Amino acid sequence: MMTWPWRALSLAALLLLLPSPAEPFDTVTTGAPLAGNRTLVSAKGTFALGFFTPDAAAGRTYLGIWYSNIPTMTVVWVANRASPVLGSAVLKIDANGSLVVVNGQGGVVWASPVTPAAVLRAGNATAQLLDNGNFVLRFAGAGVVWQSFDYPTDTLLPGMKLGIDFRTGLDRYISSWRASDDPSPGEYSFRIDPRGSPEFFLYRWSTRTYGSGPWNGYQFSGVPNLRTNTFLSYQYVSTADEAYYRYVLDDGAAVLTRFVMNSSGQMQRLMWIDTRRSWSVFSSYPMDECEAYRACGAYGVCNVEQSPMCGCAAGFEPRYPRAWALRDGSGGCERRTALNCTGGDGFAVARNMKLPESANATVDMALGLDECRQSCLSNCACRAYASANVSSPGGKGCFMWTGDLLDMRQFDSGGQDLFVRLAASDLPTNSVSDNSQTAKLVEIIVPSVVALLLLLVGLVICVIKLKKSRKAIPSALNNGQVTPFGQRSHIAGSLDNGQNTPFGQRNHIAASNDAQNNSSLRPTAGQGNHQDLDLPSFDVETILYATNNFSADNKLGQGGFGPVYMGRLDNGQDIAVKRLSRRSTQGLREFKNEVKLIAKLQHRNLVRLLGCCIDGSERMLIYEYMHNRSLNTFLFNEEKQSMLNWAKRFSIINGIARGILYLHQDSALRIIHRDLKASNILLDRDMNPKISDFGVARIFGTDQTTAYTKKVVGTYGYMSPEYAMDGVFSMKSDVFSFGVLVLEIVSGKKNRGFYHNELDLNLLRYAWRLWKEGRTLEFLDQSIAGTSSNVTEVVRCIQIGLLCVQEQPRHRPTMSAVTMMLGSESPVLLEPCEPAFSTGRSLISDDTAEASRSNSARSWTVTVVEGR
Ligand SMILES: *[C@@H]1O[C@H](CO)[C@@H](O)[C@H](O)[C@H]1NC(C)=O
Ligand SMILES: *[C@@H]1O[C@H](CO)[C@@H](O)[C@H](O)[C@H]1NC(C)=O
Ligand SMILES: *[C@@H]1O[C@H](CO)[C@@H](O)[C@H](O)[C@H]1NC(C)=O
Ligand SMILES: *[C@@H]1O[C@H](CO)[C@@H](O)[C@H](O)[C@H]1NC(C)=O
Ligand SMILES: *[C@@H]1O[C@H](CO)[C@@H](O)[C@H](O)[C@H]1NC(C)=O
Ligand SMILES: *[C@@H]1O[C@H](CO)[C@@H](O)[C@H](O)[C@H]1NC(C)=O
Ligand SMILES: *[C@@H]1O[C@H](CO)[C@@H](O)[C@H](O)[C@H]1NC(C)=O
Repeated sequence: MMTWPWRALSLAALLLLLPSPAEPFDTVTTGAPLAGNRTLVSAKGTFALGFFTPDAAAGRTYLGIWYSNIPTMTVVWVANRASPVLGSAVLKIDANGSLVVVNGQGGVVWASPVTPAAVLRAGNATAQLLDNGNFVLRFAGAGVVWQSFDYPTDTLLPGMKLGIDFRTGLDRYISSWRASDDPSPGEYSFRIDPRGSPEFFLYRWSTRTYGSGPWNGYQFSGVPNLRTNTFLSYQYVSTADEAYYRYVLDDGAAVLTRFVMNSSGQMQRLMWIDTRRSWSVFSSYPMDECEAYRACGAYGVCNVEQSPMCGCAAGFEPRYPRAWALRDGSGGCERRTALNCTGGDGFAVARNMKLPESANATVDMALGLDECRQSCLSNCACRAYASANVSSPGGKGCFMWTGDLLDMRQFDSGGQDLFVRLAASDLPTNSVSDNSQTAKLVEIIVPSVVALLLLLVGLVICVIKLKKSRKAIPSALNNGQVTPFGQRSHIAGSLDNGQNTPFGQRNHIAASNDAQNNSSLRPTAGQGNHQDLDLPSFDVETILYATNNFSADNKLGQGGFGPVYMGRLDNGQDIAVKRLSRRSTQGLREFKNEVKLIAKLQHRNLVRLLGCCIDGSERMLIYEYMHNRSLNTFLFNEEKQSMLNWAKRFSIINGIARGILYLHQDSALRIIHRDLKASNILLDRDMNPKISDFGVARIFGTDQTTAYTKKVVGTYGYMSPEYAMDGVFSMKSDVFSFGVLVLEIVSGKKNRGFYHNELDLNLLRYAWRLWKEGRTLEFLDQSIAGTSSNVTEVVRCIQIGLLCVQEQPRHRPTMSAVTMMLGSESPVLLEPCEPAFSTGRSLISDDTAEASRSNSARSWTVTVVEGR
């Protein structure tokens, strides 16, 4: 929102200065220049044009256009942004037919291009401010020769084109103001790259910092929430003459809306909300870390729902595993197996994608998707293909990428399918390698980068142990010996697409990467040496036997760094074995503390690392096996959620609380988990919850309460506001995540954080609203609402959940208070404050709610706003 001190020059003052409406005051002519305080006002009174002085102290005066019918001075266009006038100024049409701004001394500070003499001779010049905010210079008989819409500043109004006119070379782009009171060109600009399928890029100075994704016939593939709604449509036009983007309002849509690049480089869509008398931000880009330009390098796929956020496309592996482990994915990924152009290559599909940069892509609107596939296969340079017109499923339109695939991300929902070419051996086994219309598809595998690290550290320790015991391990691995263990495929269950391990998606244990915080990696107490560790090492024969010689039937999943197998030990214990792929061979001593930490933690609500196994180049970690996978597979699955009745849910909530309490207080160390979420809560055979994934956990000294990181890791939707915004984490940020979990468990709904599509998808807000309206019980998961639930417990859990997600960390209870509240029968709990609506998007939820409440007469205009 633009709020400047000089808005004291308010509408009232402006109106007093306006001439009576009888005369046409929307034009400047040769004989009638515009001077001093006079302003032009468009026919319906929407826009005004005149001189303004944003910073009264500096006294710099600019010619600009602003909204004339709202009380907040909002400038949408500036003429002389680089050359302000000090003192009085005049706008006139000069003898050459050019609009000029002249200063008090008669010097020209700004001029539109000179009009060709032929046009000039033909007739009178008029410059008129139109009601859409366009200021046009016309000549009788020659039409418009110049318009402000062709020279945007930081604002894109409805109808304005953003893009290139190839005939004239005119490149319309927007660039930020330097500061909110200084319209001179700032650091950021947003402009089109017309190569391939055009895409918009945000530049900071001349460096790209964000790409919108190529246009896919319907929207920019990286901005899936900007889509046509009932009153506003987005258009992209690409012809031999022009390539531009614009959005238009329906006739009669009585809304004021604009896109603006603010001076911090945020591209925002705002809408004027009358009842609040202010502008509200409806979307803002870039919006998360995944939007950093090429954040995950070539063939890397960014996904904010994952941590680490960078993964590789299926069939690819990190090029620099060590940097990836440190959560720097910018080095990208490389192919496991080189392509064989002459035959056998196939495609793996990646879903919900922001398409790669298309500068080196070809677009052929005549090819359907199958022809597209054939065409890509027959071109050795082709790396991937996708539909280039998603608005006609099964119709025509083909993208083919011939260069590296760059700047990809994966969305939770939205985005589109991308077909990535792979060598036959890298194709998922159930996929048909070629020429099939119904090729089986696999998902992108987001690899468990840090799991590798855990593995490595575990191995370092194992090596040490081995050295000590000088125990010889026969290298029996992979020599094809068959063990008499029966098939156990039924135990492996139905893991979807090999992505999940029984430990959630990325069970990783590693130190944090924040170099500046390295000291916090070391526990202040309990600095032991290796002898402290109680990490058993397993014989390789034991593991071979337990996993049926790593039979495919025992495979639970495949992470980026190696497969995970289910197994059963002789004593009947079920285990999960993570087998490190051979290519990863970094010794990472600095992670030793973390493994020490994990090996030391023992609690019935934490997942247990049982030991490790090392043999030649084989490296494995052994965990207890979780028969019921993770909480999210029940909670957010329509078929399974009713299996968790209230009693189970309440016991899960209690178990999680005890696990966190142990981490925070009751273990020898103080540990902040930092990535608590439903997929990191594993469930054993009896549905007991176990916290897993200590990949980003931090050890605090006993007297330490908060820490700060520059690199926020974790999962949006579960992050407390102070952590997401400022990198401040503490036990109270875990409490926040716990609160989100509680509300999810009670409601059976996922809190989507950044990605809420509709109002009600922001779970915290929904819970709060029901709470305030006294309809708390409606929050309970409908699938168990009919069954006997302990109403007091339900309400108490919701209240505790709300207490945990309060904006201010100091208002949130500690975990020991939480466990006490959960255990007590007494209903006297504190009254929660309004929750933080998670990660800085509160404005949106607020406004949408406000708008739909207060504006029902026009609700079609405001309730259908797009958002995530
Ligand atoms: C412009 O406004 C100022 C103060 O509002 C006033 O003093 C001045 O006379 C005005 N000038 C003209 C040309 O109207
Ligand atoms: C008109 O253009 C000519 C040539 O560009 C220039 O020399 C002259 O000063 C201009 N006249 C005015 C009034 O700006
Ligand atoms: C120019 O404008 C004047 C006054 O508006 C008008 O009388 C005259 O006919 C116009 N000339 C042309 C060529 O349009
Ligand atoms: C730009 O927008 C972002 C996101 O809404 C906001 O955090 C930032 O303060 C804004 N910058 C300015 C200068 O208004
Ligand atoms: C490519 O595939 C063909 C047919 O399967 C095979 O004959 C050829 O050796 C392969 N080339 C390479 C370089 O792998
Ligand atoms: C995309 O498909 C839609 C629906 O079939 C069609 O109307 C539109 O013209 C297509 N766009 C292009 C660029 O071919
Ligand atoms: C496009 O290809 C050129 C030449 O091969 C290469 O230099 C450039 O990096 C590629 N750009 C992209 C975005 O792949």
